[in-house]
Amino acid sequence: MSEKFRALIIEKTEPKTFTRRVGERTMADLPEGELVIKVQYSSLNYKDALSAIGNPGVSRNFPHTPGIDAAGTVVSGPDGFNPGDEVIAIGFDLGMNTPGGYGEYVRIPAGWAVHKPAGLTLREAMIMGTAGFTAAQSVDALVTAGIKPEDGPIAITGATGGVGSVAVSILSKLGYSVVAFTGKTEEAADFLTSQGATEIKHRSELAEDNGRPMLRETYAGGIDTVGGIPLSNLLKQTKYGGAVTCCGLVAGASFESSVFPFILRGVSLLGIDSVECPLSEKQRIWDKVATDYKLDSLEALSREVGLEGVSDEIDKILKGGQTGRVLVNLSL
Ligand SMILES: NC(=O)c1ccc[n+]([C@@H]2O[C@H](COP(=O)([O-])OP(=O)(O)OC[C@H]3O[C@@H](n4cnc5c(N)ncnc54)[C@H](OP(=O)(O)O)[C@@H]3O)[C@@H](O)[C@H]2O)c1
Repeated sequence: MSEKFRALIIEKTEPKTFTRRVGERTMADLPEGELVIKVQYSSLNYKDALSAIGNPGVSRNFPHTPGIDAAGTVVSGPDGFNPGDEVIAIGFDLGMNTPGGYGEYVRIPAGWAVHKPAGLTLREAMIMGTAGFTAAQSVDALVTAGIKPEDGPIAITGATGGVGSVAVSILSKLGYSVVAFTGKTEEAADFLTSQGATEIKHRSELAEDNGRPMLRETYAGGIDTVGGIPLSNLLKQTKYGGAVTCCGLVAGASFESSVFPFILRGVSLLGIDSVECPLSEKQRIWDKVATDYKLDSLEALSREVGLEGVSDEIDKILKGGQTGRVLVNLSL
């Protein structure tokens, strides 16, 4: 293991100015921790972009290396981790104020990593990454709530994004019909159809609050990745006994709702958190990702970049311009 390694480095040059460059960090830059991983793949998530622009809700200590996802091999670790073991680490503080997966090595608490399930490669795990994992959690929450394919279509917001596109694919694989709400109806129609969307609608249909407390019962369930008014509108259109998952905030961190969807239609709002979710739950969801939810279309869902290519992708995701997932290959 060399003392120096390549990483994306975010530096704070003025109180609110942050620069990005690929450079060298040393093992001494990494915090104390039981588990050292040689990172082979990471991925791009919306939160990584927030970290890279110095969003204080995500990252406060600079210079910093983002990357909330890392998959690679164990260099050294406590009992239960042998050198060469293939492991996956997502969430907790990784890539927030702990140097993350956009560096060739991470050093973390052993309680942040799971062993890679047999049915998944490290590459496939990071095509999924936090976004895909969150999509799997969201699907699992709907299934656990008793929503079945025959109950009706599932609406997905932010459908071309990381969470949304994987959710489209998993639900389609499980036999659900999927209505994809997107701002990219023209340019991403082929992509969404190929991932299994049965209908594509423009997100503007959910963008206005018309003031009515409820709308026509349309969807058996929803996977909302954007928050704000679209989430309010999805709740109003959810059928009796249905459920909507909530994980994101790109359209707004707050939303309004009357109590009527809940008390007249028995609709449930299900919160999804991938970051602090306990390790046993992370292992359970990764096992699903490797079996029941395993996608044949993973390569078609993603594009691959090396560390030098990450900065452009960060700019793109901040504008809502990504389609599918971005895989970061540390050896490119
Ligand atoms: N709770 C958790 O544990 C967790 C985990 C992962 C992600 N998240 C959150 O989930 C959200 C999605 O993450 P992601 O990685 O999938 O991001 P992403 O790849 O950027 O996807 C977000 C998608 O939302 C749509 N969108 C963008 N701006 C919008 C706006 N102003 N109004 C409505 N729709 C808009 C776009 O899709 P279209 O063009 O198709 O509409 C965009 O591609 C983020 O807020 C992220 O922080 C939370």
